[in-house]
Amino acid sequence: MDLKDKNIILCVSGGIAAYKAAGLASFLKKQGANVYAVMTKNALEFIKPLTFKTVTGNKVTTNMFDESDFVPHISLADLADLIIVAPATANIIAKAAHGIADDMVSTLLLSSNAKKIIVPSMNSKMYLNPITQKNIKLLKENDYFIMEPDIGLLACGYEGIGKFPDIEKIYGFLLQILSGKKSYFTGKKILITLGGTIEDIDPVRYISNRSSGKMGFNLAEEFIARGGNVTLLIGNISELLLSSFKSKYPKTKIINVRSSNDLYDKVIGFENDFDIYCMVAAVADYMPDYKADKIKNKNGIELKLSATKDILASLKKRKNALYIGFAAETENLTKNAKEKLKNKNLDFIIANIVKGEKNAIGNDNAEVVILNKYNEEEFRIDYNDKKFIAQNIIDYIEKLGKFI
Ligand SMILES: Cc1cc2nc3c(=O)[nH]c(=O)nc-3n(C[C@H](O)[C@H](O)[C@H](O)COP(=O)(O)O)c2cc1C
Repeated sequence: MDLKDKNIILCVSGGIAAYKAAGLASFLKKQGANVYAVMTKNALEFIKPLTFKTVTGNKVTTNMFDESDFVPHISLADLADLIIVAPATANIIAKAAHGIADDMVSTLLLSSNAKKIIVPSMNSKMYLNPITQKNIKLLKENDYFIMEPDIGLLACGYEGIGKFPDIEKIYGFLLQILSGKKSYFTGKKILITLGGTIEDIDPVRYISNRSSGKMGFNLAEEFIARGGNVTLLIGNISELLLSSFKSKYPKTKIINVRSSNDLYDKVIGFENDFDIYCMVAAVADYMPDYKADKIKNKNGIELKLSATKDILASLKKRKNALYIGFAAETENLTKNAKEKLKNKNLDFIIANIVKGEKNAIGNDNAEVVILNKYNEEEFRIDYNDKKFIAQNIIDYIEKLGKFI
């Protein structure tokens, strides 16, 4: 599911996190949504409507009695696929819980049948105050969806619950509410390796492969959209893809790796830390002996390559974690993938064709075959762009969640 052509009303109330709502508006717009910002009078103390107008491209509503629009709270209420109040102050939560409609945001909330999300953000004492908690309970009983705030250092200097969540997290929550499905991946800690490794020959030369990281980034986006908490271990990839991913998901943890040995150490170092291991990186099978000085020989050189460590096979398999591997094959796709699934003791293996016209490596499209250890079924996803492939891979794994 994506946000293409969805009408999202973003209500901004007067909390210190109001400025972060501009980042959220811009993010939702980039995901294809039409975003309409509505601000309380007090929100105007923290951020100007011009910011929202610029990032959303739409008029910002701040005044219920604005005569340039025909009954603005009703037209917005009818237009909305979803209303999200972010940040939601203790005040707007109290007003919404008790049906008070004395400004544009509270009136809109009362007059719309659209799904409504509240993202509380405030000082811990305000949030934990039994009155606020009762108001939140009341909203839940009246079909509002409430997002739990983060715990951390708050703008007011206090440490505790009440922090505005990361935009990626809000997005994951929002997609779940819109799609009506709670994903198996929600709240799961997911480690994804992607890109190719670099095996150094000497200080100036190396061996790598054509991996671009496209499949890994598409999987990461899809996991995030389903509420997963993603960490990326990134090898040699397209810089353009990396910068566009970072600008979209600035809070996603990214760790750079270079060689297969480096990746091995990092993955094994994380063997107890994640719920899902999704190993997409194109790890070199062979590496040269590194020479500290630049190799010079006019008559050419012979490179002796030795086998690298098998990361997936070495990774400890915990009972309650899920292990997903990728295989790049030029022939006997299913047969080779079956062997790898067994030898490396994985839950799922996704085999890509890396030959001829459908060569997946470094390209935008792929054709894959998925095998799992729970039944003998083979699942093929025909040649398509990697976004589509990633969505279908994750749908497939999600459907098999009952075995996990
Ligand atoms: C500097 C400052 C920061 C504030 N931050 C918050 C906040 O993060 N959350 C909150 O609930 N109220 C916060 N308040 C209090 C609200 O602005 C106040 O309750 C106001 O009436 C909310 O109005 P609104 O809900 O109509 O936007 C803050 C006030 C000030 C002066």
